[in-house]
Amino acid sequence: MLSIGRREMKKVPALRGRMIVNLFFEASTRTRFSFETAQKWLSADSLNFAAKGSSVEKGESLLDTARNLQAMSPDLIVIRHGTAGVPHFLARNLKAGVVNAGDGAHEHPTQALLDALTVRRHFGRLSELTVAITGDILHSRVVRSNIWLLTKMGAKVRVCGPPTLLPPRIAEMGVEATTDFDAALEDADVVMMLRMQLERQGSSFFPSTREYFKRYGLTAARLARARSHAVVLHPGPMNRGVEISSEVADSPRSLILEQVSNGVAVRMAVLYLLLTGHPWEGDA
Ligand code: CP
Repeated sequence: MLSIGRREMKKVPALRGRMIVNLFFEASTRTRFSFETAQKWLSADSLNFAAKGSSVEKGESLLDTARNLQAMSPDLIVIRHGTAGVPHFLARNLKAGVVNAGDGAHEHPTQALLDALTVRRHFGRLSELTVAITGDILHSRVVRSNIWLLTKMGAKVRVCGPPTLLPPRIAEMGVEATTDFDAALEDADVVMMLRMQLERQGSSFFPSTREYFKRYGLTAARLARARSHAVVLHPGPMNRGVEISSEVADSPRSLILEQVSNGVAVRMAVLYLLLTGHPWEGDA
């Protein structure tokens, strides 16, 4: 799938005649556009739904919305929603396949897949790497999906954040948990910074963004505590000067834009596998 993106003519007929609905109830730049790009490159037909401007604004329920879209016979529905469990709910109630593009603070599976692909392409493996994930662990769907995937693939995962943003039982997911950022960075091969999700925080979880950056912001000096070959990931969108400094985000050690490119290939693979039932074997 990556090689298709490198061609001058970025299109294969693999999913011609298939229809995919992109159902986005929450804002998105990377996920939405990479799913759309993946669909275009595989020649699927896309229908793009944004809650704003739809009959959701007139009070139509989620299930009625989805059933009406189902009546147009899509093969697959890609959904992002602010409530955990919505993709599972739709999968139980619709004929079309459902892909989770992020549900509340629950999961973001394709983000974890693209993160894993990015790390594996860089190091050639995931096993025995130490991945330090730091930030708003409490509200992050990215961290939950990454923990499932990275631990399954044999990586050691450390999560770090202020006590108010670190779920007390997170270690039960098979990770180390710490509030000490410097300790989390020690010997890390991969440093994954998470966005401070101010829109999901009903109350103040830390005194100020300035204070947060001082204790948990990734600067070049802080990054020096990780292994000398350590790389930096961030799912985006970044809050520069809150969880990450521009000098790190834009440095050669940052794989942040590579994550975005890999996201298209990963989503192509997900769509292709789900719609055809078998892995891509090339179109040569
Ligand atoms: N990483 C991610 O989910 O970004 P978007 O919210 O822009 O899709």
